[in-house]
Amino acid sequence: MKHLISIHDLSAAQVADLIDLGRAVKASPAQYRDACRGKSLAMIFQKSSTRTRVSFEVGIHQLGGMGMFLSARDIQLGRGEPISDTAKVLSRYVDGVMARTYAHQDVIDLANYGTVPVINGLTDLLHPCQALCDVMTVHEVFGKTEGLKLAYVGDGNNMAHSLMFACAKAGMDFACASPEGYWMDRDVVALGEADAQAAGTRIIETTSPEEAVAGAHVVYTDVWASMGQEDEQVKRVADFQGFEVTEALMDRADRAAVFMHCLPAHRGEEVSADVCDGPRSIIYDQAENRLHIQKAVMIRLMGHEAA
Ligand code: CP
Ligand code: NVA
Repeated sequence: MKHLISIHDLSAAQVADLIDLGRAVKASPAQYRDACRGKSLAMIFQKSSTRTRVSFEVGIHQLGGMGMFLSARDIQLGRGEPISDTAKVLSRYVDGVMARTYAHQDVIDLANYGTVPVINGLTDLLHPCQALCDVMTVHEVFGKTEGLKLAYVGDGNNMAHSLMFACAKAGMDFACASPEGYWMDRDVVALGEADAQAAGTRIIETTSPEEAVAGAHVVYTDVWASMGQEDEQVKRVADFQGFEVTEALMDRADRAAVFMHCLPAHRGEEVSADVCDGPRSIIYDQAENRLHIQKAVMIRLMGHEAA
């Protein structure tokens, strides 16, 4: 593993290893306090963040290294310095770069032009750190991932794409219910289908939330308007009517089903407050696990024992 740009690039064994290491790091954090001793992580943000910023910054600190928050507004990148120069220069100073961008190509370019590991902290296309965290959380709750089904109800966005890849690599079926016009990207689905075929898992796309959640062990949703789509908020709220995760929808899933959300959540839009804050919701355990799985990612990419 040289970078974490897409879960599609990882093998099932690498995903299983990250889940195991994430759980080990969570259980015994002190054992890993020198794993990235003296290492530096540059963290570029073109978009807002609470979880990603804090969990990476605290995570690298807990591993003995240091994180550096770089708002794209403050560094020269925001004034038009090329990604290529940014990548080459940062590579002379730091041991890893984490980036949250609009264009997915920007993260690929950071990896191609730089010489240090690059971690995708969310692009318009993918959110691999969150989806790795999510399969780790599923593993923690159910003791396994293989044979389970995750139903995603909502926009066919970055979160849906990365969950599709993560589910296949973790041996899980993935169902995605979206309104017409809000389906996942066709090219990304083609890659997901290849992963699912290799894993022997299923990808189901439907416009029916009820069909998606039937038999699901996890019901997952995300905001209807992602960062950068604020202008579409009103239209999207109208177009997504019928796609709110409610108690009635949860009741159609498996009896043991849990509710997950990458956060931030809009209660009363994609999820009702009673589900989001109810007994089946594991959103805060999920958010916590960002810290642990990303420490596992940094150990594998930047740790002293990394290849
Ligand atoms: N889930 C997630 O990535 O949250 P932030 O946008 O707060 O980082
Ligand atoms: N789909 C959301 C995820 C936020 C963590 C967005 O891109 O804004």
